[in-house]
Amino acid sequence: MALDPTKFKNMRLPAIAAPLFIISNPDLVIAQCKAGMIGSFPSLNARPIEQLDEWLARINEELDPETDAPFAVNQIVHKSNTRLMEDIELCVKHKAPIVITSLGAVEEVNQAVHSYGGIVLHDIINDRFAHKAIEKGADGLIAVASGAGGHAGTLSPFALIQETRQWFNGPLFLSGSIATGDAVLAAQAMGADGGYIGSAFIATDEARASEAYKQGVADGRANDIVYTNLFTGIHGNYLKGSIEAAGLDPNNLPESDPTKMNFGSNDAKAWKDIWGCGQGIGAIDKVQPASKLIDQFVAQYEAAKARVCA
Ligand SMILES: Cc1cc2nc3c(=O)[nH]c(=O)nc-3n(C[C@H](O)[C@H](O)[C@H](O)COP(=O)(O)O)c2cc1C
Repeated sequence: MALDPTKFKNMRLPAIAAPLFIISNPDLVIAQCKAGMIGSFPSLNARPIEQLDEWLARINEELDPETDAPFAVNQIVHKSNTRLMEDIELCVKHKAPIVITSLGAVEEVNQAVHSYGGIVLHDIINDRFAHKAIEKGADGLIAVASGAGGHAGTLSPFALIQETRQWFNGPLFLSGSIATGDAVLAAQAMGADGGYIGSAFIATDEARASEAYKQGVADGRANDIVYTNLFTGIHGNYLKGSIEAAGLDPNNLPESDPTKMNFGSNDAKAWKDIWGCGQGIGAIDKVQPASKLIDQFVAQYEAAKARVCA
């Protein structure tokens, strides 16, 4: 169950800073990796595609593989993502150490990443998708439980990790409302190898989000989160205040149609105005540099370990 130290190097905290649509950018990723967490970004945040080439070159240049944690690039594997194979070619060119795939599991993508020694982590919301991902050649899994920001699952984290660990011994990270070092340790105690932390990083100086959004995360608590499929066709968690600001009643949102899902060209508007966010943000109370947030997680993790082992 332990992570391969040649792949998961220089980590001060056993956790991945999750990819955030629009929000993650090279400044954030570099800060995360330098502070000792795996940093990541969705490749579609780099638009047009030429920018992806530049971003990957810069990240490789600024990170020192001897001292910094590796980075990950997130690929949305969905028919509406017409850039997928071109983006994968750039990951191959720049040897992205880790590729995180979301939605579909495709053998070709996994083979391309393996061709240069990279590894693929696939995110799943249930055991059926987990089996499918591993059958298609993914190396590890990210279990997205209820309460996660973005397109969250509905299952309890305990249920997901327990079922996955019955048959899978490879790298396994837990996603959903993790926003303290204590919770990262809890994920490990449960059977995962580490945590996967998204929303907490919205409240960082480097995040590409408006000041109001960052402050909304710092001020918000679990009760401020609404679960709806209205905005993308798939159920996800959002900050209530942004839904109200858009003139909608968060308590009476209509159902949406899953065929609306589109990860193609510039369909970013819904995510700019309607703020994706998980339920864990009660643990976040200020906007600060990503390195300070990670220092906070590391201190909490060490204190929790000392407490539990005492
Ligand atoms: C604003 C926002 C955007 C997200 N965008 C993506 C994305 O582009 N690709 C992806 O795989 N996951 C995306 N996610 C999900 C995260 O990667 C991660 O699973 C989630 O944030 C973890 O839960 P937490 O926010 O409670 O920590 C997004 C989440 C948020 C909050």
